[in-house]
Amino acid sequence: MAAEKPAVARETFDKVILPVYAPAQFVPVKGKGSRVWDQQGKEYIDFSGGIAVTALGHCHPALVETLKSQGETLWHTSNVFTNEPALRLASKLIDATFADRVFFANSGAEANEAAFKLARYYASQRHSPYKSKIIAFHNAFHGRTLFTVSVGGQPKYSDGFGPKPADIVHVPFNDLAAVKAVIDDHTCAIVVEPIQGEGGVMPATQEFMQGLRDLCDQHQALLVLDEVQSGMGRSGKLFAYEHYGVKPDILTTAKALGGGFPVSAMLTTNEIASTMAPGVHGTTYGGNPLACAVAETALDIINTPEVLEGVENRRQQFVAALKALDSKHDLFSDIRGKGLLIGAALKPQHAGKARDLLNAAAAEGVMILNAGTDVIRFAPSLVIEPTDIEEGMARFARAAQKALAD
Ligand SMILES: Cc1ncc(COP(=O)(O)O)c(C=O)c1O
Repeated sequence: MAAEKPAVARETFDKVILPVYAPAQFVPVKGKGSRVWDQQGKEYIDFSGGIAVTALGHCHPALVETLKSQGETLWHTSNVFTNEPALRLASKLIDATFADRVFFANSGAEANEAAFKLARYYASQRHSPYKSKIIAFHNAFHGRTLFTVSVGGQPKYSDGFGPKPADIVHVPFNDLAAVKAVIDDHTCAIVVEPIQGEGGVMPATQEFMQGLRDLCDQHQALLVLDEVQSGMGRSGKLFAYEHYGVKPDILTTAKALGGGFPVSAMLTTNEIASTMAPGVHGTTYGGNPLACAVAETALDIINTPEVLEGVENRRQQFVAALKALDSKHDLFSDIRGKGLLIGAALKPQHAGKARDLLNAAAAEGVMILNAGTDVIRFAPSLVIEPTDIEEGMARFARAAQKALAD
């Protein structure tokens, strides 16, 4: 007897979903650890991590247990009432970071929206309503609301949506002189990803991060770090700012915070938070007990020496495999990033082929990401098994040979 056809398939996407994505040609239906299966039962090794989200792999037993138990306890209260998981998660984030106060939201864009509004509000309350300039960077990515897409440094994402929020200046990333040329006492914030993710997996230099901190201090501006992608252990430390020894004034995190359950947070200090009052900002779902309970469990697991120290070993395994592949086939001009956010920039002769390589990788049974048209990105689970890395890289090598062979 023929197997029953699924009621929905990849073609359904093209009929029912707003055409803002171009998903792969297979539909994942099940995941366990770093393995995923599609509708046809084909197995994939997941090096994409749901774009740096599933930091503990798929269906981690502790996350599943928390989701079930909180799901049978209390899902939602709204911000009219507080709840225990949110209070516990906030307390743990504060204990683990520079911060004294937390605002919860549901996505990276929302956390950033809150951060940018807070930076402007703080400046207007403490200094002047004219202190509103935000300095941000070319190729930066901060989300898709109109404010976040405008602070982001890729006009292709912000053009065509009508007037943009004003007083946002973009300069080249890792170029301190360019920042010096535009910062002044009307600047309320510098917004930066310590490792640009979507923009090509590009880490900030030490000199740049320290320089930004100093410039902010000189001009009474806030340093806002977008750690939506680089945070929650991805870099090998809980937050990437710890590598630099540079403290932010505001930090945002999302993606891996909930290990796959949508939740985000904006962290800040008491001094900055003290300008806020009930009604100034808010969200209905942000800080809901279900999301916060799952995130609390994710944080408890990620923020341990065992997980954080394991990141560097796994990175070494990826980098060694990429270098071996490169020495055979001359593919990459750079292998970069920090921890398990790894970028492999394609050589000029393969420029524009990142997406072809993604498709070839899927055909071989490995899920990878691109970051722009010329960079392959790996953002796997932080606890991926070394045997999965080995097998996934063997599949990737076959894909690269097929997709990039001259
Ligand atoms: C650095 C950074 N900030 C913000 C965002 C937006 O997060 P979300 O898609 O959850 O709104 C992303 C998403 O890729 C990101 O990488």
